[in-house]
Amino acid sequence: MEYAYQLNLPSVTEILRPEFKDNPWKTVDGLVTVTDAEEFVDPSWLTFKGLNWYKANIFKKAPGWYGPIHTDGDNTVQTWAINWVDGAGGGMEFWHPDAVTSSSLEYDVGGRTDGRVKGWRHIVNRPADFVYQTPPSSAWLIDVTVPHNGFNPASSTQTRWAFSLRTNIGDKPDTFKDAVEYFSDLIIYK
Ligand SMILES: [Fe+2]
Repeated sequence: MEYAYQLNLPSVTEILRPEFKDNPWKTVDGLVTVTDAEEFVDPSWLTFKGLNWYKANIFKKAPGWYGPIHTDGDNTVQTWAINWVDGAGGGMEFWHPDAVTSSSLEYDVGGRTDGRVKGWRHIVNRPADFVYQTPPSSAWLIDVTVPHNGFNPASSTQTRWAFSLRTNIGDKPDTFKDAVEYFSDLIIYK
């Protein structure tokens, strides 16, 4: 079992509301933006695969930016996500949990202090166990309960955007393993 699987889905611009298709991120300025899915996602995609897509996190990474190694949330967010990549490709890194040597619960780099979504930051003892190169326009089913980060290499000439769509905590499928099963018809096995 891996921690990320590429999915056979249209590019992110295909799932966004018409007003975002040309320049999707023009109103986004933070490194991390948390928003209701319906603000960005076309109504026709808000229930794709029979699920209720309700949150979207948007991650912005300049060339050379490696995100902090973290797990998402404090048991307050879904265990998995679908991330679309736009702009620069870059990639994602994942570690098995036994790589963690220490952890601290912190607010994310977006600096939210409303107590809603926090993340665990981790110190790890080795290079990533899995590194996935994520081409522009690709979509990925990812496990957000294991240490991970996203990166945009220094050689890049563009900003890397990740548009991360979430269902609600408690909605099925509620584990990454079950999500892999649920999306098996869309997974691109390499
Ligand atoms: Fe994350």
